Amino acid sequence: MSNLADSSIVAAVERAYDEKAKAGSNEAYAKEMAQSVGYTPSDLESIPPTAQLGVGCGSPINTANLKDGETVVDLGSGGGIDVLIAASKIGPTGQAIGLDVSSDMVTLSRRNAAEQGLKPPHVAFVQASLADPLPIASNTVDCVLSNCVINLLPQGGKEGLLKEVHRILKPGGRIVLDDIIAKQPLSEEIRNDLTSYVNCISGSIQVEEYRTLLQNAGFAESNFLETKNDLQKICSGVDGGGCCKSAPKPNFDVNVWVASYQITAYKSSETVESAESKPTSALLRWWDAYPKVKSSPALIPPAELAALYKENSESERDFAIIDVRRDDHAGGHVRGSDNWPAQTFYDDLPKVLEKYRNTSRVVFYCGSSSGRGPRCAGWYQDYINETGTTTSAAYVLEGGVKSWLAKYGNEEDLVDRD
Ligand SMILES: C[S@@+](CC[C@H](N)C(=O)[O-])C[C@H]1O[C@@H](n2cnc3c(N)ncnc32)[C@H](O)[C@@H]1O
Repeated sequence: MSNLADSSIVAAVERAYDEKAKAGSNEAYAKEMAQSVGYTPSDLESIPPTAQLGVGCGSPINTANLKDGETVVDLGSGGGIDVLIAASKIGPTGQAIGLDVSSDMVTLSRRNAAEQGLKPPHVAFVQASLADPLPIASNTVDCVLSNCVINLLPQGGKEGLLKEVHRILKPGGRIVLDDIIAKQPLSEEIRNDLTSYVNCISGSIQVEEYRTLLQNAGFAESNFLETKNDLQKICSGVDGGGCCKSAPKPNFDVNVWVASYQITAYKSSETVESAESKPTSALLRWWDAYPKVKSSPALIPPAELAALYKENSESERDFAIIDVRRDDHAGGHVRGSDNWPAQTFYDDLPKVLEKYRNTSRVVFYCGSSSGRGPRCAGWYQDYINETGTTTSAAYVLEGGVKSWLAKYGNEEDLVDRD
């Protein structure tokens, strides 16, 4: 048992992989490493080189046998290597979701996806700790992949994660997990060495313990295949590669203590599914697939907006109103609103800015302006702050269309009906 506290492990791992994402990998080295653990040259050529960091210990994608229309979740998705390869195998009707605790990894993988024209909900990367409940709906996933990640979770976290994996899989769904396994009980010194932890060694457990965790999670049977990849090389941080670039190399023979394995199992197809209606996306919250909002745009009270309408003729108006609802328009909307649905708003930001860059006030609203309205306003303001191209500013209509209609529902010059 390690003396390292669970919270310090997760924090140290997150920091190390933030660093790794920012530093990137030597491209030739990362490619060589990826091929050495089984990725095919054609799969690697199909994705951006920056998605390959040379930090995997196997190639789960080759065994996953993904099919058209399937939903796949990758635990600890790094630069996006497995999710982006998966995307081409599941086609446009499938969904590939990567989860990673490191915000820099998530930023990198989103950039790699954008480079390939892939976007949510088809391909989504979400910042999430695997030590917490997964942000994925129950019984929605055909295949869960992971490459060299589960060893990085603290002991309690591993058990909780495997239970969550079982929850999100559809009945008959499968797991393909490449991971590092301890060949023998690890020495106290290795167990308590945070650097070896971050480098995927110290948190590894033995096959029987792993199998028991899987059984406790609901996977009655599991298959463990030793893949015999050279972990001395993978865990050593060679030439800008390895798990943690700045870490000193281990002062012991890694291959004596640990080995690479591929673990496969199925969720019983007899598992009872709940009667809840099937969600269209496996993601519980669509907005998790986009960056968190940093700014907090000011509220504009309905009376102030109504005054702007009344004081300015249409040609004099230096404000725009954006309704970010999608299909809940019944009952009317603020006069002259443009409609940019929240679910696709982030991807539309360049077009939105192009349209409103010369408009001083851009006012966003949804039903009550407590969720989608402020989120889209925040993304618009963040985008302006990042690009620094305009003095246009985002506002949120206080109380949303509900307040507006309650006050002005009978004033024809302030309300449009569908
Ligand atoms: C060794 S790298 C593997 C990355 C990727 N699977 C690959 O093969 O290139 C481990 C990844 O797991 C992520 N990770 C580690 N602990 C995590 C946790 N508790 N929750 C979510 N992601 C985690 C790291 O940020 C990192 O991206």
